Amino acid sequence: MRTIGKAFTCLGIAIVLFLCCDAATAHAQGTQPAIAKIQQPPMGWSSWNALSNTINSELTKAQAEAMLSSGLKRAGYEYVNIDEGWWLGDRDAQGNFVVDPKAWPAIEPGEHDGDMTNIVRFIHKQGLKAGIYTDAGKDGCSMFPDLGPAYFQVGSEGHYEQDFLQFARWGFDYVKVDWCGGDKENLDPDVQYGEIARAIARAEQITGHRLYYSICNWGKESPWTWGPGVGGALQSIWRTSGDIVAPVVAGSVNAGRKVAFDKMLSNFDQGIHPEAEHTGFYNDPDMMVLGMPGLNAAQNRLHISLWAISGAPLLVGADLKRLDAESLATLTNGDVIRVDQDSLGLQGIKAAELGPGLEVWSKFLTTPGERAVLLLNRTYFPAPMSVKWTDLGLAGETATVREVWTAKDLGILKDRYETTVPAQDGVLLILKGTEGSFRHYEPAAKHTQEELAIHDAETRFTGITARKGEWAQVRITYTNSVVAARLVELRVNGQVATVVEFPPTGAGQGAVWVQTHLDQPGTGNMLNFAASPGDGVNIDNIDVH
Ligand code: GLA
Repeated sequence: MRTIGKAFTCLGIAIVLFLCCDAATAHAQGTQPAIAKIQQPPMGWSSWNALSNTINSELTKAQAEAMLSSGLKRAGYEYVNIDEGWWLGDRDAQGNFVVDPKAWPAIEPGEHDGDMTNIVRFIHKQGLKAGIYTDAGKDGCSMFPDLGPAYFQVGSEGHYEQDFLQFARWGFDYVKVDWCGGDKENLDPDVQYGEIARAIARAEQITGHRLYYSICNWGKESPWTWGPGVGGALQSIWRTSGDIVAPVVAGSVNAGRKVAFDKMLSNFDQGIHPEAEHTGFYNDPDMMVLGMPGLNAAQNRLHISLWAISGAPLLVGADLKRLDAESLATLTNGDVIRVDQDSLGLQGIKAAELGPGLEVWSKFLTTPGERAVLLLNRTYFPAPMSVKWTDLGLAGETATVREVWTAKDLGILKDRYETTVPAQDGVLLILKGTEGSFRHYEPAAKHTQEELAIHDAETRFTGITARKGEWAQVRITYTNSVVAARLVELRVNGQVATVVEFPPTGAGQGAVWVQTHLDQPGTGNMLNFAASPGDGVNIDNIDVH
């Protein structure tokens, strides 16, 4: 058993973490909470899909400017992420990065060529955030060049503390850590990404600057089992599959490449691990390919609907300067963004299968009784599809329904919504009905003073009833009297554990939501939290939906 215990006391306390508690409390009270932006899946742009390893200062500036002029920033997109190709492996005698001064020159008077602070300052001046990229191994993905020659020694292994401190000193807000070198050396990703998380925490301690942690090892060794809270990281995303598409760089030899619709769908499928996802921790099915050659407008709408239902990061891979009006309208649709960014941070689950390839996906949203629903038709023929309120865990006969892509409010519907979904397409709905009931549980046993002294004392909930053996939404009421967020291991029915983040609550109580698969029939389910009462976090009680 991976013991979390005291080792996971974390340094950074973001005020927004409190909002997560507010959001959950609001669900119980029936009020609309504020959106805690920093806790939600990141939104922005990444350079790889459109620019490959040709990335430089001029190209980055143009994309940052396009994020403003296109209206993407106004819609909530904020990260400008520089991917592979910014650095070609040179270090000075002290092991510091040496950056090509021609590719990253001074932008403002008084700046020096070859200093990444220049581009970070430029991005920040646009009111945006800046992301950077490295590899967990000695080599990086540049040893498999896409355009141009191969480069070696482009990874951070052996320099973790130095490199992540440098990223923070340059002012970057986000770092993506790839796995080409780690894979080549057969390293253990759980160990390496844990060390990197600690290097990021140390850099934050020194600079006061937090790097958002993007783990990119393509689903190898099941990162959804070790990604949440790895190395004590608060807030992270982890890739769950390979790249949807190899880069498509206009005017280059690879300009003819196209996105495959099926690969986009299969990345969605591989990204579904609801047990690992809750506010701050997200599965990452890769940057979106929306707006790139290969997908039509309807497929683009389905693509972002799938990402939103699964609470995925919304990172645009396309060239922002070349997006057509329809792609931009799709990317900036307020409803689909609201579904993605919902403050409970729970992943959509498959609520019903109406027939082969005809699936009803449901995402539990913050406002009580609200669900985002995707009717997904994977078949090659149009199909009548429906969703029943009872499939969504709602009580009551009626619900109001909004169709996202037609922007139609359909008013109050009784029992169900029905429509014909075109072949290989989906219909995204936001509906609001009456929330179903919760079952309340207190811990199985109160701990004695002697038990409190034992490091591994656990808080256990037993006799939990499963509703049809399905996914359950669990509201965990807790107190965290220490000043930092704490990470606690949660094990359901003795299976592989996940890690849950509990922000500080001060003197009061807070709530965090997770989803668990209750696979035992009847009342046979058990939830075990590795939090020791007296350790700072008390798991007070749970409510199961
Ligand atoms: C891997 C990642 C991509 C991109 C490239 C860069 O393939 O999955 O997202 O970062 O490396 O080479």
